Amino acid sequence: MLQDTKIMFEKALTGKYAIPAFNINNMEMIQGIMEGARLEKSPVILQVSRGARKYANPVFLKKMVEAVEEVYPEIPFALHLDHGDDFEICKDSVDGGFSSVMIDASAKPFEENIALTKQVVEYAHERGVVAEAELGKLAGVEDDVAVEDKDAKFTDPQEAKEFVDRTGCDSLAVAIGTSHGAFKFKGEPYLSFDRLQEITDLLPDFPFVLHGASTVLPDFVDLCNQYGGQIEGAKGVSEELLSEAAKMNVCKINIDTDLRLVMTGMVRKYLSKNPSEFDPRKYLGAARDEFTKMVQHKIHVCGSQQKA
Ligand code: G3H
Ligand code: 13P
Ligand code: ZN
Repeated sequence: MLQDTKIMFEKALTGKYAIPAFNINNMEMIQGIMEGARLEKSPVILQVSRGARKYANPVFLKKMVEAVEEVYPEIPFALHLDHGDDFEICKDSVDGGFSSVMIDASAKPFEENIALTKQVVEYAHERGVVAEAELGKLAGVEDDVAVEDKDAKFTDPQEAKEFVDRTGCDSLAVAIGTSHGAFKFKGEPYLSFDRLQEITDLLPDFPFVLHGASTVLPDFVDLCNQYGGQIEGAKGVSEELLSEAAKMNVCKINIDTDLRLVMTGMVRKYLSKNPSEFDPRKYLGAARDEFTKMVQHKIHVCGSQQKA
């Protein structure tokens, strides 16, 4: 059933776990995610980026998500806009039946981020939709960047408090060391839990969101490479760090890259092992089965199993 993320996050805060948020682009992904959620009895967030809207058409995605309500009535899920970067895309998603939207104006100066976020929050709240916002820079962490420069990109605790108070957003994506994609760290993965704690001290009982939270599991990078891929130097956030964040006030953990790797690796493997096969249901089906297992695994990293 479609569930308000406010309710999901309240439970996650008290239960000390996080809700996994998976990016969706096609039917097989939606099915793979929901099957994993059903097997683990976990709430999930299905999220749609601007790129996903362009690829699949938001109406198609919305209609497939309506099927989710019918096929998986017992699983609480939310339909969320990921990284809405202007008012129009957020408005369109609210009007189009999404239960949650993200306004990501984090690239803009502080006051502009506040003004745009406030506009989206007001539009969303008037229509019963919740709003996530972002403060701080999710840049990739390079070896040759000095510690103080890395730190400068992180979310400032005082600003976070002011931002939440002035915008009324329902959750906040924070920059504490993660970044998007498969190349997050050159050295050891590192998240600033001290920074997260400082923010939490000023905003207790407030839900935080971790973007760029894929682990880039070596088995799946290897799977891609074994069957013709060329992905070198990939590294993500370790699962220990993610589980620790989930026990703190991180209530939503965003995962896209790990799902891309499993889907691509499995399609590559299937086609390589079955060169005469050309039925898309065969290779997409094989990918979907492994996708479900990955979703189950992620649910355990977030600690959201049996929380539906
Ligand atoms: O944060 C970005 C997500 O991984 C979505 O990626 O914009 O390529 O769909 P995308
Ligand atoms: P990853 O690239 O680490 O999977 O992050 C996804 C994300 O943050 C989507 O908003
Ligand atoms: Zn993101």
